[in-house]
Amino acid sequence: MNIIKVKDTQMGGKEAFKIVKDDIENNGAKVLGLATGSSPITLYNEMTSSDLDFSNMTSVNLDEYVGLKPDNEQSYHYFMNEHLFNKKPFKNSYVPDGSNPDAEAATKAYDKIIEENPIDLQILGIGRNGHIGFNEPGSPLDGTTRKVGLTESTIEANTRFFEDEKDVPRFAYSMGIGSILKAKKIILLAYGENKADAIAATVDGPVTEDCPASALQNHPDVTLIIDDAAASKLK
Ligand code: F6R
Repeated sequence: MNIIKVKDTQMGGKEAFKIVKDDIENNGAKVLGLATGSSPITLYNEMTSSDLDFSNMTSVNLDEYVGLKPDNEQSYHYFMNEHLFNKKPFKNSYVPDGSNPDAEAATKAYDKIIEENPIDLQILGIGRNGHIGFNEPGSPLDGTTRKVGLTESTIEANTRFFEDEKDVPRFAYSMGIGSILKAKKIILLAYGENKADAIAATVDGPVTEDCPASALQNHPDVTLIIDDAAASKLK
């Protein structure tokens, strides 16, 4: 794994943007895999303030809460519209359909989308417990899109976005780790001390379902962009 250490999230966004831009301009990347959450925001700001044109490109997001429609302000689709798509539209932007209660149909449909749009560059954040997408510890390292139950620690971390903890959805549709690993290139962004254990387990630990992000050790082209605090427990 390549590791780029940055002093703060602003610099992290700039470093990640350089890789995104280079992949589009020099490698012909056409499909971006995207994440929500706080970690990619500075990258999305760089993208929206750049002169890059995404109108010929496709985006495929990692996950969505089950039960939330795209116009729900807490949905990941809404987040993506606000932070990226409204300012820089893509030709096609896919997010799992959280409003479809039929998990089998929703996840199969999403796998088909991923198959038809192989991801050139995947952006990831990481949970405090090492989750990527909503693949919590114990998830199969070769999985495809699934309906997943969120762990208490993830629900607690997400509570900050909701008025009441009981409003935080308990389930999500998430791209599987197997699908994430098929991306040609992967950038993982992590900032802050509360990510230090997860980053140490990802880089120095064994490849294990206990830390889903450790599966990235099996991928040939992963770059971690992390600040000093997130890097503080690396060997
Ligand atoms: C969101 C996602 C999650 C987040 C992770 C980190 O689409 O896939 O795995 O990347 O929970 O979230 P932040 O960046 O808010 O710390």
